[in-house]
This record gives sequence, structure tokens and C-alpha cells, in this order.
Amino acid sequence: MKFSKLALSSLLLIALVFFLVACNNSASTDQDSNDESDTSSDNGEQAEEGSEEEPVTIVYARGVDTTPGTDAVIKAFEEKFPHIKVEQREMPADTGQSHDQYVTLLSSQSSEIDVFNADVIWPAEFAQANYVLELDRFIERDGINMEDYFPGTVAAANFNGKQWAMPQYTDAGVFYYRTDIVDEPPATWDELIEMSNELKGEGGTEYGYLMQAAQYEGLITNAIEFIASYGGEVVDENNNVVVNSPETIKALEKMKEIVTSDFVPENILNFMEIETENAWIEGNAVFARNWPYMMSSSNDEERSEIVDNVEMARLPAGDEGTAAALGGWMTMINRYSEHPEAAWEFVKFISGPEGQKITAVEGGRAPTLSALYDDPEVQGVSSLFANPEFREVLQSAVPRPVSPIYPEVSDIMQIEISKVLTGDQTSEEAAKNMQEKIEAAMAE
Ligand code: GLC
Repeated sequence: MKFSKLALSSLLLIALVFFLVACNNSASTDQDSNDESDTSSDNGEQAEEGSEEEPVTIVYARGVDTTPGTDAVIKAFEEKFPHIKVEQREMPADTGQSHDQYVTLLSSQSSEIDVFNADVIWPAEFAQANYVLELDRFIERDGINMEDYFPGTVAAANFNGKQWAMPQYTDAGVFYYRTDIVDEPPATWDELIEMSNELKGEGGTEYGYLMQAAQYEGLITNAIEFIASYGGEVVDENNNVVVNSPETIKALEKMKEIVTSDFVPENILNFMEIETENAWIEGNAVFARNWPYMMSSSNDEERSEIVDNVEMARLPAGDEGTAAALGGWMTMINRYSEHPEAAWEFVKFISGPEGQKITAVEGGRAPTLSALYDDPEVQGVSSLFANPEFREVLQSAVPRPVSPIYPEVSDIMQIEISKVLTGDQTSEEAAKNMQEKIEAAMAE
């Protein structure tokens, strides 16, 4: 496989993270048993199956879900725990906008929501700001084995030795192709360009390729994939900013070549996941980059024009191989929730084997529990889920910089990279500006 160097170094990193997480988990035990007082609002509910309980309603906030996944998992939970009703609160599809709304709500110590989905990039910030409950004592009490989860997803929710969230599903950027138009997906970005030029218009399509190029968080995930596939990095393992490199410059050039080509929609600079998904399921493109959930939409008989004509593969490679950005969502409990026990019961369900299986089968989302990839129904979602190598893709996905000031880092990158795509500055200028501005932000 072309992945080799990148995959190997990422795997070593994951092994290290795994080791550190194991140390953290055992080290945090004592501390956390003292934290009971944090949940002064705990009203003492014991949400045990089958017992007679006071009815309680919890509010679960999450971004727009275009798949039936969320409804299905809530329905299954309510059937199993009839005394807990889950009310949904829909947040914006754009993770940056959701982030800002959560910060407003949580910083005012509101108890309006109990449980919410957190993007993989938020835990450090939310933990530092004390917005959410530490989950260690629940995890220990209920005997949850965190080693059943992909180590990278556990590590992403761990900050200062404590677990602040439960991994719900993981995301890695994947490549979609139309099996009624091509047999094999392109192996490199250059092949993608060649094939897109050649194939656009076939099978009723208008475009060769769809990606996320709007100025928002998704742009960063697309950019990280280009940068890593050419061997570049934003921040290295010692927390040094290393983004100003020939690799970044080459990657941004390739990204620009694609975004300004004739085979993408003219308004690609407005494309987020939802625009990608809509154009894709209408059958408008030969290839697309999105997260695994788009497989569920592609095969949705009610919405999609391309049912059974879609496969997922790894993204095309640059000089150093193929790279997928690490995304994903976890569930957190609002520190000011008035129903922490019921909230935890829901978090446990949605991030446990039953909940994750429903989310995978109904919502096309990639589980964080590795054993679920051996489940025939999960394997039925796509051939990629059934492919053992996909676990490797997920585990070796490239994280965005882990920092309590990540939103600031992301804003800097969004602005500088967008300016390259709109032709307002060169890739060299962008790399230099990102280096200086991220260094300054991290030094504050
Ligand atoms: C997906 C990913 C998330 C990422 C977002 C960007 O939802 O799971 O981690 O930040 O896309 O748009």
C-alpha cells in the first residue's frame, strides 16, 4: 500500500498515545473519586433497567444529522430506559458555529442542555474551561473498559489525565467514487485531476470532484489531508509550529489547482459537507471527499439518485502517501446538568456497543469500538467498513493540533488558506503567515 511511511509513523505515535493513556487512566483513579462534590446538582437518580424510576427528560444537543442515525439511537435508548425521555436540540451543521453556541451556553452555566456532541477538537478547551463533567468515576463505577475503544479517540477526550468525553464515532476523510462510471479510484492527486477532467459529464454527472473548500473548519480537515499527503505538518510532536515548509507549499498548490479547476462546481468555495452531500446524492459528480456518513446518504432510497453505485476508498496520495484527517464526535455532559445520572446513562448507551452499532448501521458512522468492525451488519455498511485495512486508516488518521486555543489556530489557517484559494496570496505567503501567527497565538 502507498500509505507506508506516513502510516508507520502514525502507528508509532498511536502506540505511544495508547501507552500514555493507559498511564493516565491508572493515575487518575484516586483523584477522581474525590470529585463527587462536583455534581452537587445530582438528584440521585439511579437509571437501572427495569426498576421503577422517576420520569426524567434530558436534552441532547447535536449538529444537524441528515441520516436516520440519531433518531434511531434515541428510540432504542428510550425503549430500554422508559423513564428517561430524550429531547433533541438541533445545532448548526457547521461545527464552528455549533462551537460558538455551546461556548455561550456553557459559559453562562446554563442547565438547558444535559448531553451534547463534541467535536474531537474541543475537549482540551472545554475541559480547561470547566464546562463539562469528568467522566472517570462513572467509567470506573460501571466497569467500562476504555481499551475497547480506539486509543486515539480515547486520547482525544483525555485532558490533564482525566476523561472528559466518551468517543461516539470517529471520522476520517474518505474518497467516494461512482462504481457505474469507474472501476478503480485514482491513486494520486494527479490521477484525480486527470480522471476528473476526462470523466466529468459521464453517467449524468456535471463535475469531476467535490470537496469542502468554504472558509470554515472543514477546510482545515481538507487542507490537513493535502499537507500530510505531501509529508508536511502544522505542529510537530514537540508542539513546535512547523507549517512553513516546502511540503505545505506544495500541498497548498495542489489544493489550489483542484479548487480552481473546471471539474469542480463554480461555487466550490461555498461547499461544506452538506453541499457536497446534496450534489453527490443527486448524482452530479464522479468523485467526492467527505466523511464516512455519506455512504448512508448515498444508499438512502428516498433521497439518493445513486443507490448501489457508490464505493468508498482512501483519499488520493501526494508524494508521501495518502492521509486522512482525524475527525469524529464524542458525547459530553454539561457540568451544570440537573440530571447527571440520566445524562450518563444516555452517554453510556450511545457510546456503548448497542448505540454505536445503531449509529453505524443507520447513520453510516464509523464506530470507535474496534470489535464492532467484526459485526456482519456493520460490515454491510460498505466494503470499506468490512476491510480490515480501514481500521488502520481510522487509527492512523492525522489529528488537528491539540490545544485549548485550537479555535484560534483554526481561524488563522482558515483565513490564510482561503486567501490562497481565492488567489489573494501565494502558497508561500500563506505558509509563512500561518507559521508566524500560530506561533504568536501559542506564545500568548
Ligand atoms: C466532521 C468531523 C469533525 C470536523 C468537521 C469539519 O464533522 O467529524 O471532526 O471538525 O467534520 O467540518
